[in-house]
Formats: sequence, C-alpha cells, structure tokens
Amino acid sequence: MYADVYKCVKTKENALILAIESSCDETAAAVVRGGREILSNEIMSSCSEHVRFGGVVPEIASRAHTTAISLVTKAALDKAGVTLKDLNAIAVTYGAGLLGALLVGVSYAKSLAYASDLPLVPVSHIRGHIAACYLNNPELEPPFISLLASGGHTAVLYVKSYTEFEIVGQTLDDAVGEAFDKVARVLNLEYPGGPNIERLAVSGKPSVELPKMFKGDKKNFNFTYSGLKTAVINYTHNCNQAGIPFDPADVACSFQRAALDVLVEKTVSAAKVKSVKTISAGGGVVANGYLRCELEKACKTRKIKLFLPPKPLCTDNAAMIGAEGYIQYMHGNFAALDLNAQASVEL
Ligand SMILES: Nc1ncnc2c1ncn2[C@@H]1O[C@H](COP(=O)(O)OP(=O)(O)OP(=O)(O)O)[C@@H](O)[C@H]1O
Ligand SMILES: [Mg+2]
Repeated sequence: MYADVYKCVKTKENALILAIESSCDETAAAVVRGGREILSNEIMSSCSEHVRFGGVVPEIASRAHTTAISLVTKAALDKAGVTLKDLNAIAVTYGAGLLGALLVGVSYAKSLAYASDLPLVPVSHIRGHIAACYLNNPELEPPFISLLASGGHTAVLYVKSYTEFEIVGQTLDDAVGEAFDKVARVLNLEYPGGPNIERLAVSGKPSVELPKMFKGDKKNFNFTYSGLKTAVINYTHNCNQAGIPFDPADVACSFQRAALDVLVEKTVSAAKVKSVKTISAGGGVVANGYLRCELEKACKTRKIKLFLPPKPLCTDNAAMIGAEGYIQYMHGNFAALDLNAQASVEL
C-alpha cells in the first residue's frame, strides 16, 4: 500500500522534515527545512540514570524513550511552529544502535507516518553524524574529507557526493569514543568519559609515554585504540602496585593527545591524497575542544576549509537525522511500514 503512495511523492527542495532519533540514551526530535535549516531540535536524555552503572543500560534507555518520545516530538513541532499537516516527511534512525531503543523511535515514527499519511525516510545514525556539518552551512558541498569520531565509530571518509562515501581509513578495533569512556573508568571518572577526561586534561601535562599507534605511518590511514587503552590501564595498575604516585590529570592529558593527534594527522593527509581542500567532522568526540583546536590549526596551515558542527550537534541529536533524512528524501529513499530496527548498519 505504502509503496504506491511513495511513487506519487513529489519531493520539494525546501521540504519540512520531522526527524526522530532514539538509538542510544538520547530521545530526540527536530524539524529541519531543506536539510540545512534547524527550526527546532529537542532532546531528552536518560544519561543520569546510567551513571551509577558506568555505561548505558539498554533496558533503562528503552523504557526512558517510551515515556519521552511523544513529549519530545510535540515540543519539536511546537517550537518549530508547525503541525503534522505542514510536514513533507518523517525521518527516523533505524540503525545503528541499541535494538530496543531504536525500536521505540522506529515504531513511533511508523505510526505517525501512517496516521498522518506522510512518507517515512529511514536514516542511518552514522550518516547522520556526517550530515550534521551541512546544518547551517549552506556553502558546504561534496567532495570533502569527513572525520567520523564517535562512541562506536572512527573513520576518515572521502565524501564524493551526498550519497557516496569511500572509507579512506578506519579503526581496526575500538572506537575513539569507546577508548575515552574506558580510560575514564580507570581514572574513576563518571560516564560519559569523554567530557570528563577533557576537563581533567586541562590541568595535566603530556608526560606519560603512550603508544603512538599508526601516527607517522604515512601509508596507513587506519586507527587502533585497543592498545592505547591497555597501555593506560597497565600504567595506572603498575603505579598502584609499586606504590608510585601519579597525577590522573597527566594521564588524561597524555591519553587525550595520543588518541586525538593521530586523528588530525590522518584527516589532513587524506585531504592531500584525495586533493580536496575541504574537511568536515562529526560524532561525539568532535565536541572535544583540544581536537577542534588542533584540526583548526592543521587546516589553517594547509589552507584547507574546515567545517565543524557546533558541539551540541556533534553528540547524538535529531537535527542531524533531519539533515541526512533530507538527502535520502531527495533521492526517493522511502521505507515501507515493515521498516525494522538494525543494531548495525553499513556506512
Ligand atoms: N568532549 C569530549 N571529548 C572526548 N570525547 C567525547 C566528548 N564528548 C563526548 N565524547 C564521547 O563521544 C561519545 C558519544 O558520542 P556519540 O553520541 O556520537 O556516540 P554514540 O552515538 O554512542 O556512537 P555512534 O554514533 O558511533 O553509534 C562517547 O564515547 C563520549 O565519551
Ligand atoms: Mg552517535
């Protein structure tokens, strides 16, 4: 039934899209016009409920989504000053993420699309992080190099067009955000670890020797974070065993540099290899001030234009799903009402 309806969908350049995101512990809804302009961007997080467990508990996150989703969606529509009748489509994150959490958003978006007779656009959360840089940046167009640095992904991508990507390099094991969260635990910092490590690192010195991973290896664009994480664990463990005092701020500062310097190096080298003069970035780790500053310095020296999403658009949000949803909408990529959630999706 719906496939027929979608055949008649006439896509509009300035389409109003309601986007829904529920892949982890943030319940989010946004209204985005023409894929670039944010009319509203609402978010409710169950983060504080997970702190005492040291990480996201899927069941708690799913239950929190069920209570938050209609409130957040209503707030997004109200703030944008629109009703369901004004919309052109509903976009929803169908993966990657926690299955139970995703199912809440997907089921809700499907019901809303059916009840209001709107086309449903399936969106990959990972592509959403990459598309966040289009928001409020009308001049940004492919081709460019994109650094994806989040809790579950780490990659340098060559964005050839709005829909075609080539992976230049990616992590062979842990994601950089995951390494931040694990190292934070060793330093007795609360979840989520990234912002807490960044805060602690400010007062530290980069005095702890840690593995450089593939830094300096010009032919290799991949990353590896599992050895770095283990090195930090071993360092703190050995100090504790031998009764040698150490400054956690120095460990945080040394780890942050080791984890992020390599991202900057590979991202700017990828731009050189692909002969592009534009770089963007997305994902929660891109909220890190040290990374942003180092990327700015590296791009300035090489006369590369850098587009960084504002910090709240780096971590999970629905506006980025609206930005990517618009791209999929313009390409006629609609989902039928049997759309299912997927724990993992290909780039
Ligand atoms: N200031 C910061 N410095 C370093 N890391 C940060 C900072 N802020 C957030 N992070 C990290 O970003 C991650 C969360 O980002 P994001 O929301 O993009 O990940 P995710 O949604 O869990 O994973 P994915 O998007 O890959 O599915 C966490 O690992 C968190 O520690
Ligand atoms: Mg994310």
